[in-house]
Amino acid sequence: MNPRLLATRILMQVIFQGKSLNACVAQFTQHIDDSKDRAMARELVSGVLRLYERLDFLLSKLLTKPLREKDSDVYCLMLVGLYQIFYMRVPDHAAVSETVKLTQKLKKSWAKGFLNGVLRQSLRDKETLIEAIETEEEAKFSHPAWLVNKIKTDWPDNYESIFEQNLQHSPMILRVNRQKRSAADYLVRLEDKGMAGQCLPFSSEAIRLEKACDVLQLPGFKQGEVSVQDQAAQLAAGLLDLEAGLTVLDACSAPGGKTAHMLETEPGIDVLALDVSEDRLKRVDETLTRLSLKAKTCAADAFDTEAWWNGELFDRILLDAPCSAIGVIRRNPDIKIHRNEEDIAQLVENQRKLLDVLWQTLKPGGILLYATCSILKDENENQITDFLRLQDDAIELKIKSEWGTNVSAGKQILPGENGMDGFYYACISKVIAQ
Ligand SMILES: C[S@@+](CC[C@H](N)C(=O)[O-])C[C@H]1O[C@@H](n2cnc3c(N)ncnc32)[C@H](O)[C@@H]1O
Repeated sequence: MNPRLLATRILMQVIFQGKSLNACVAQFTQHIDDSKDRAMARELVSGVLRLYERLDFLLSKLLTKPLREKDSDVYCLMLVGLYQIFYMRVPDHAAVSETVKLTQKLKKSWAKGFLNGVLRQSLRDKETLIEAIETEEEAKFSHPAWLVNKIKTDWPDNYESIFEQNLQHSPMILRVNRQKRSAADYLVRLEDKGMAGQCLPFSSEAIRLEKACDVLQLPGFKQGEVSVQDQAAQLAAGLLDLEAGLTVLDACSAPGGKTAHMLETEPGIDVLALDVSEDRLKRVDETLTRLSLKAKTCAADAFDTEAWWNGELFDRILLDAPCSAIGVIRRNPDIKIHRNEEDIAQLVENQRKLLDVLWQTLKPGGILLYATCSILKDENENQITDFLRLQDDAIELKIKSEWGTNVSAGKQILPGENGMDGFYYACISKVIAQ
């Protein structure tokens, strides 16, 4: 399929049909054989999503009235056209003619002249339009207005850098399975294959690849030598103070990145990996099989303790809570489209309830690690501060590390800090009654 057409079709699914970008990625390989065309389709989709609010603003300046709902495909095609004109090194005439041509494929021949006019107008007004972007924060930062306000309120000294980082391409970070080899050894294996990378400072298993690639190109991937996981997510295992023989509950485990890392770190732990989604839990099983690791997995709602808990208290609990994922926008730019302000309060309430329920299953003297890939204070430090205030037998174990910033409770990593995803961690211990 033509890369511009496939990009338009995928954007339709993400922007108007609520599909996640991740759920669409298989379509690139399904529909396009040529690797150059595939790369172009990928760039168009991720580029449009990253700069969605800005491109939508530009379009609003170019259209006299919004398009009808039934013409959302034409709208997506316009975004694809504008992205090429403003952000890609495609010659202007090709950006216009190749895009306009596709109106026929969409069976919207009526839009041919209209789209041609809009794109040509954008070329004529390019300078003025670029200046206009600076006048509106939603366009300038390319984030929805509610999120601009929220991030500005939470991070008055850092918001510009957060917005900028959220629009960057994310690096591909590997986690070497230390049961099989060291990161330094694996780096040599990569170099032998002509793949450059570097070891990272905060996780001894982490390698940053110079150039992203398909996982199947990674030496030993199928044999379980390596996985893909951001360095920020690789910090969880080290915070849990794991020792052989400890029982560990991974309460929200799918797709299993942290479950696997805990077991690679200490294969002698006894892990119960829980997830409410049966489908997603299958990915935990697949990951554990690929890495030759063992854990009990169970598809159940953490709130329904009768369904999964035998009453024995856990030594360690990882609550990698369902969250807004605002810290990983650079990896999943569609988050900006799918999340809305009302979601946040609901997520916060859900996280609070999860903390309360899981706390009952922790041994006195045990540790609960609370994690999110969010940077919103209500999901992170405010959540944990409230928990510590209300739970008499909970005390914070301060995280001593060179990464992240100490906040009122726990540690926050902002997007792009030391090259990492935005993440939050808090370690809480249960007091042993005297
Ligand atoms: C942030 S993801 C976990 C990522 C995972 N820990 C990893 O490192 O690969 C949150 C997970 O929580 C699960 N979840 C949400 N609500 C849940 C509940 N009430 N009980 C159990 N799992 C839940 C979701 O299905 C999702 O897979």
